[in-house]
Formats: sequence, structure tokens, C-alpha cells
Amino acid sequence: MSAQPTDFETAVTRRYFMKGAAAASTIGIIGAGAAGPASAGPAWLAFEPIAANSLDTVTVPDGFAWYPLISWGDPLWSDAPAFDHETRGTGASQERSFGDNNDGMSLFTQGGNSLLVVNNEYTNRKISHGNRASQGPETDDDVRKSKANHGVSVVEIAMTDGRWMPVLDSGFNRRITADTPMEITGPARGHDLLKTRDDPSGTRSLGTWNNCANGQTPWGTYLACEENFHGYFSSSDPDLPLTDALKRYGVKHKDRGYGWATADERFDIARHPNEPNRAGYVVEIDPFDPASTPKKRTALGRFKHENAEVVVADNGHVVAYLGDDERGEFLYRFVSAAPWSGAGDDRDALENGTIHVAEFSDDGTGRWIPLTPETTGMDSAPLIAIHTRMAASAVGATTMDRPEWVASNPHRPEVYCCLTNNKNRGKKPNAGGDPTPVGGPNPRPENLYGQIVRWRPDNGDHTAEGFSWDLFVVAGNPAVHGDARAGSANVDAANMFNSPDGLKFDDRGGLWIQTDGNYSNEGDFAGHGNNQMLHASADSGAIARFLVGPRECEVTGLCWSPDRKTMFVGLQHPGERGSSTFPGGGDTVPRSTVIAVTRLDGGPIG
Ligand code: FEO
Ligand code: CA
Ligand code: CA
Repeated sequence: MSAQPTDFETAVTRRYFMKGAAAASTIGIIGAGAAGPASAGPAWLAFEPIAANSLDTVTVPDGFAWYPLISWGDPLWSDAPAFDHETRGTGASQERSFGDNNDGMSLFTQGGNSLLVVNNEYTNRKISHGNRASQGPETDDDVRKSKANHGVSVVEIAMTDGRWMPVLDSGFNRRITADTPMEITGPARGHDLLKTRDDPSGTRSLGTWNNCANGQTPWGTYLACEENFHGYFSSSDPDLPLTDALKRYGVKHKDRGYGWATADERFDIARHPNEPNRAGYVVEIDPFDPASTPKKRTALGRFKHENAEVVVADNGHVVAYLGDDERGEFLYRFVSAAPWSGAGDDRDALENGTIHVAEFSDDGTGRWIPLTPETTGMDSAPLIAIHTRMAASAVGATTMDRPEWVASNPHRPEVYCCLTNNKNRGKKPNAGGDPTPVGGPNPRPENLYGQIVRWRPDNGDHTAEGFSWDLFVVAGNPAVHGDARAGSANVDAANMFNSPDGLKFDDRGGLWIQTDGNYSNEGDFAGHGNNQMLHASADSGAIARFLVGPRECEVTGLCWSPDRKTMFVGLQHPGERGSSTFPGGGDTVPRSTVIAVTRLDGGPIG
């Protein structure tokens, strides 16, 4: 028995009420540790927090600098042309260039080579097809370009004249697109629901798309997580009956503007009804083997995956924490069947295991419920891997306010998840009809601003059934609201933000929060400015704004150089509504960009 409670135990036993009486009466609001004015980061990274702004550039604190590393359409090989601001590229040029809308990313270093692996989540059609009168795809080549805007880019980077730069023509450079062959692994491999005309075995699919956030395994592979996969399918038969499963995953008859089914019939669910069952997974990629076939790991379930935060538990089992980003969907945990040996060539831990879903209680405890035929009443493990949402509904898991990134504290068994916002909380059930009551880690009705929940596994064991939880921060606007919408005690007029999304710890235990929210800077969001990145202390709960992105961007994706002196930050969809020319300025097309952030004194930044 420990004599002194840890910081975490103190936080969960001492109530920090949100500002305002309405909030104070809400059960389950437990703020972070000591609140107060935002600190300027830890001593090793002291910085003056910056003010919110609506500028069309990147803002970092005094003493720091940034430069663009790579943007949508930059060639990865010298046989591809430079980005063409008139045409915005062709199918052929895009297949040889950095994809669009960079999202989650990781850096891998081996034998002196550094590979930046980046998800290219989607494409803003008004920008990428802005050369067309319709501002959408009009030709088969437009669809080919669109499919190559998506997927994953592997790009070697190297330090040149004091800056990290892409290595053109590196043998490691690779584009993975919506047409790249994939191997389907795990429990759903070969299941009837995965069989198609072109793949009667149900073991090989084509492509990955809408890869949102990511993960990195200790054996050196990259995890690209398929999120809104449903939006690319449509039906040539307007009367095709939609199954409950298609409805739960949001697949509809009407094309949403990508037009992929017009050029590639596998996206037509009237002709190929099982194709949607082959997307919505976590895809494992070996970055140092450009000829390798990416593996869809069905053991990690099928839903609108955000990221995959991989932790090796003390007992050697590999744990992946996984969010399903849709209003009222769930938070999951995968536990491998076998322990990982610790050897780099032991690479199948994600092949078999058990997926669990989180149930949070209002008293600050919770448990992971295994999804098995016994607990769910569903026929088989393969069916649970394919229809994971229905399995989670069957056990009565807690409907969440859109789980985005999960991040595990490298210094102690403690895990955080961004719950970005949920306008339907307390108002509308999720797509499966599950109620979304106000309470627990989802404490506010019609949640505008979002919050970050954290939990500590019982006995420090990531494979344990139980955990205790609290809310690390409840975002809000204390300058506009005096009730629960003001946020928790560690939010003030100087550091306020909305819609936490990206979340990552640096090696030193600093927590970085990236936002994807309302950037109007008006009304409920007055004073929030553009989307941003904040540094937080997991110990004190202090939060300070470190970076503001350009107009209409989302800040998403974060990793570091091997020496930790450069931080790579993703800026997605600047100008999605037409008000940015970042990064080129002038009359250039706005382009999603990965930037490098450094300290002027050359010190570490993570
Ligand atoms: Fe692609 Fe949930 O963000
Ligand atoms: Ca996200
Ligand atoms: Ca988001």
C-alpha cells in the first residue's frame, strides 16, 4: 500500500468542478490536477504561449522557427513534374507525388535512412478539381488522380544545408493509393462477406483510403487507420435495399462527389455489395520494404478508425487503443493473443487477439468488455471483426463524443483520448439506435467544444479488465459562457480551444493537443482563432498554446526527428472554404503541408 497518493489518485479523488453551478452538479466531471494560469511548458522547452489568431500563416512562439517540408503534389521522383497550380495535377503525376490532406504520420530511422510515412486522408474536391467548371471530377483521369490523392506516402527525408528535405528518387519512396494490392489478414480473412467477383478468396483487396490517424509498432511497422471509408461507395440501383450493416456504417446510394464508382465499378454496391466490408480496418505497412504488401489487420475491428496507439503491456501482450470517430460510437482496445517476443522479426501480434469495448461508469471507474460470440450473441469471431459496431452495441458499451486520437503516457500506465465534440449528445441516438445520455466522460448536452478523457488501467496493467478515469480537460469558452460551456478549470481566455483531435506524447512526457474545430473566431468560438496545437502537462494539467495554423486548416499529425530537434507537424486542408493560399501565397492553390518546427537555439523540441 502506498503511503502517498500519486498525482493521478489525487486528481480522481479531488473534484475540480467546471466553472459555473450547472457544471458543478454534473456527476463525473473531475478536472486535471493543479489548475491556474497556463504555464509556458516544461523548463527544457520554456516558451511564451502565443495568442490565438486568424492569420494565413503558421505562428510559433518567439525562439522557434518553421519551414515547409513537403506539400500535396510535390514529386517523390524526378520523372514527375512539379505541382501545377493550373491543372492541380493528373492521375499520372499524382501517382508519383505526395498525396493530399496529410494526416497522421510517423518517422522511421534505420541504417541512416529516415522515412517519413504519412497518411493522405482525403481530398478537397473544390481545390483538387478546381480546374474543372463543376469543381468536381469530370473524367476517368480525374478519378485516377483522386484515388492517388488518397492513401499513404512514404518519403525519405535527409538533412540538407541545415534543413530536413525530401530525398527525390529514394529507393524507399512509395505511394500507396486506393488501388494498391492489400492482403486481408486475421479472423475475417476469407469470410464470405469479404468475397467479391475479382477476389473469390476474400483475402486480397485493392487499396486503402481515408487514412486518418496512425500508429507505430515496436517492431518497426506503420499503421494507417481507415476512417470514413463509406463515403466513396454509391449504388447504380437507387432501389437497392440497404442492409442494417450498410446503414450502421453510413454507406448510401448517392455518390457524395468523389465519383469513384463511375470510373471503377468496385465502388458500386449494386454490383459489388461486399466491397464496403473490405474497408474500415487498420492497415499495417513495412516502410523499409517498398515491395511489401500492406496487411489489413481485421483483428483490430472494422469501424471508422481514428488512430491505433500501440503499447506493450508488462506481460508482453500487445495492446492497441482504438477510437471510432462518429457521434455516439465507441472506444476500443485490442489485446494480442500471444505476447510479443521483443524481436523485430516477430511481426504477427496484430494477427490474432481479442477486441474489447469501453464501458465508463459515473463513479470514475470503467471496464473493458471483450467482444466474443458469448458476450455479443453474434455467430463468430469473423463476424465480430467485420461488424464490430454491432458487437459493441450488443454489449451496451458507452456511446462517446466522437473518439479521436488516443495517446499513452510513456512514463506511466495512463492513456488519454480526445472526444472532439458531439452536437447530438443527449439529443439523438447513434447510427445503431443506442442512446447517448449525458454523463460520465460525455458530460455536456449538444457538446460544442469537446474534452479529453484519461484512464489508468487497474494495477498498471494495460490488459486488465478495469480502469479508473477522469477528464483531463473540458474545452470551452470562458470568455463567452459562464456555465459548463466555459470548460474546466485548466481552460482560460489565454489558452482556450475547441475540438481536440490529434494527441501525442513526446519522449519527455509532454502532451501535445492538435485541434480540428470551428475556426470562425465568432460567437461560441470567439477568441479561439484558427486551429492550433497546444502543449499540456500531464502532471499539472496546465495547457499553453504553442502553434497556430493557417486559415481553414486542421492541425493533425506529429512526429520528431531522431535527435528530437525537429518536430514535424501536419497542416491539413488550408483554405478548405476558399480563404487561404498557404503555403505559396500570392494566387497559388492552397496545399496541405507537413512543416518542420525547430528551436532557434538548436535545442530539443520533444
Ligand atoms: Fe479524420 Fe476523426 O479525423
Ligand atoms: Ca482526426
Ligand atoms: Ca476531427
